[in-house]
Amino acid sequence: MSITERFLSVAEPDLGPLEEQYLLAAFRSGWISSLGEFIDRFESGFARLCGVRSAVAVSNGTAALHLALLAAGVRPDDEVIVPAFTFVATAAAVRHAGATPVFVESEPGIGTIDPKAVAMAITPRTKAIIPVHLFGHPADMDPILELSRTKRLVVIEDGAEAHGAKYKGRVVGSMGHMAIFSFYGNKIITTGEGGAVVTNDPILEERVRFLKDHAMDRHRRYWHPEIGFNYRMTNLQAAIGCAQTERFAELIAKRGRIIELYREVFLGTGLIINPSKAWAEPVPWLVTALLPDGVRRDDRDELIRQLGQKGIDSRPYFHLLTAMPPYAPFRRVGLNEGSPLPNSENISARGLILPSVTWLNEEDVSRVRKAIADFIGT
Ligand SMILES: Cc1ncc(COP(=O)(O)O)c(C=O)c1O
Repeated sequence: MSITERFLSVAEPDLGPLEEQYLLAAFRSGWISSLGEFIDRFESGFARLCGVRSAVAVSNGTAALHLALLAAGVRPDDEVIVPAFTFVATAAAVRHAGATPVFVESEPGIGTIDPKAVAMAITPRTKAIIPVHLFGHPADMDPILELSRTKRLVVIEDGAEAHGAKYKGRVVGSMGHMAIFSFYGNKIITTGEGGAVVTNDPILEERVRFLKDHAMDRHRRYWHPEIGFNYRMTNLQAAIGCAQTERFAELIAKRGRIIELYREVFLGTGLIINPSKAWAEPVPWLVTALLPDGVRRDDRDELIRQLGQKGIDSRPYFHLLTAMPPYAPFRRVGLNEGSPLPNSENISARGLILPSVTWLNEEDVSRVRKAIADFIGT
């Protein structure tokens, strides 16, 4: 990196005067814990964005998953179908609920859960499916919703990375029995740390609200008929979330422009930027790049190292969850008998995340292009 070149980071929150104004208002109101006007405002604003009846704000996306699983009635003997290729929280929450994750294969290219593998993974013990809308791209929901109807399974969408994405015209989060979102600092809408469970079902909503707040009886203060949790979001966080939700269109436009810049400069290089299916309307979250087929994991990791030396931040795609000790013992289901998860393996080895901050300009993106071209020789 020359002295004039700036560090290009993968992700930074895009915060402005509106976030500052609302945050100060929350601070000055004295309502800095989990009661206050911004909580209600954020919940209704985010529910509107998802096209659902209600959103329950919680402390993070993992807590949201945990609560959604418990509200769905998932118990220790149950199996929950999850993708093998996702962020760890999807499966960790299944373990928090004491249930058994069953890891299934991904769709080639986009990496979302493969519905054909989901169908093969169902047993009499299956209680729920968690399709993950990965890197801003929706999972193929119709066959999963059909399985849910015929096999009476609960669907919890994991939309942590895909606020506002659409599947065949339907907004992510509005299709399953419940959906969860994360508002971690790198997400499209951030509250620093934060999450939400969204649903159209008032009984599930009530159950999530009950469990997230120490399972206190609504009509009898300090009476707790079950063991609950403190998974509440603060009014300070919600204040930032309100500003971000109001700025959603602007945030999407900025991120969309960055992805277009990458698509232009990488045209014809064999690198695929933010792959997408015809039936999907993904949201621009991070810039994801798939290196040409045949590139090995070690080469990808070496590229990441060399980009780092040039002041360009990047991240590998997730490891398969089945590769890691807490998740290795559980069943994995793919379309082949021999090697169960070749598509997940392939995408996990070839993918990387490139600088995606909203302030990038054409020069920055060309710098990334050149650094990658130097490495792969295009
Ligand atoms: C797919 C997915 N699910 C769940 C989570 C968990 O969210 P949080 O980090 O807010 O707990 C994340 C990540 O942030 C995620 O990417």
